[in-house]
Amino acid sequence: MWDVELPSFDPAAAPGAPLALFTAWFAEAVAAGQVEPHTMSLATADEEGVPDVRTVMLHGADDSGWSFASHRGSRKGRQLAARPHAALGFYWPAQGRQVRVRGTVTAAPAADAQADLHARSTGALAAALTGRQSEVLGSPEELARASQDAWERARREPDAPVPSWTLYRLLPEEVEFFQGDARRRHVRLAYRRTTTGWTKELLWP
Ligand SMILES: Cc1cc2nc3c(=O)[nH]c(=O)nc-3n(C[C@H](O)[C@H](O)[C@H](O)COP(=O)(O)O)c2cc1C
Repeated sequence: MWDVELPSFDPAAAPGAPLALFTAWFAEAVAAGQVEPHTMSLATADEEGVPDVRTVMLHGADDSGWSFASHRGSRKGRQLAARPHAALGFYWPAQGRQVRVRGTVTAAPAADAQADLHARSTGALAAALTGRQSEVLGSPEELARASQDAWERARREPDAPVPSWTLYRLLPEEVEFFQGDARRRHVRLAYRRTTTGWTKELLWP
């Protein structure tokens, strides 16, 4: 595991709230050459409480939460509508780091979702316009036709609205930072939200 020199992490010097540490670690992941540090696992649960997981892109992390975007009618969208709780997992092997985030998910105002989408690439808009995410696909040709139309529309109309496109914000209740250690004395620092702020605890690895 981790055929690289791992950074040291002093949890005693960590900030009082997790967002500042996440922002610092994210910048350090980029500086360390971590490939796609903004991809993360998004875990949800269905109506019966059965878990599910997939990869999505982080669109930002600020005081309003950790944000990601998808179709409201997708499997994850339906699960989030039934149970608005989720967990995120980041793994940055370039530094032996993991970050886990758990919390409540809300949908941002529709205008924010459209603005977020229209600030992205033509391909991102075309993919969103293609729609029908998580529905059963009859054939690859059906997708090719729909995608072709979506690309043409995205090029012609860069502000085309995609009503099902939703910007979700996860407001964390818990954020855990894991720093791998060559001697397996991994450091785990867990933040938990309280009524007055955040508590910090070390966890056994
Ligand atoms: C690297 C990567 C990034 C992805 N980013 C997103 C994303 O930001 N939003 C999204 O809806 N799907 C994204 N996907 C596709 C999802 O993993 C998933 O296939 C899709 O959202 C359907 O999931 P669902 O059926 O659970 O709703 C991404 C996949 C990969 C491999």
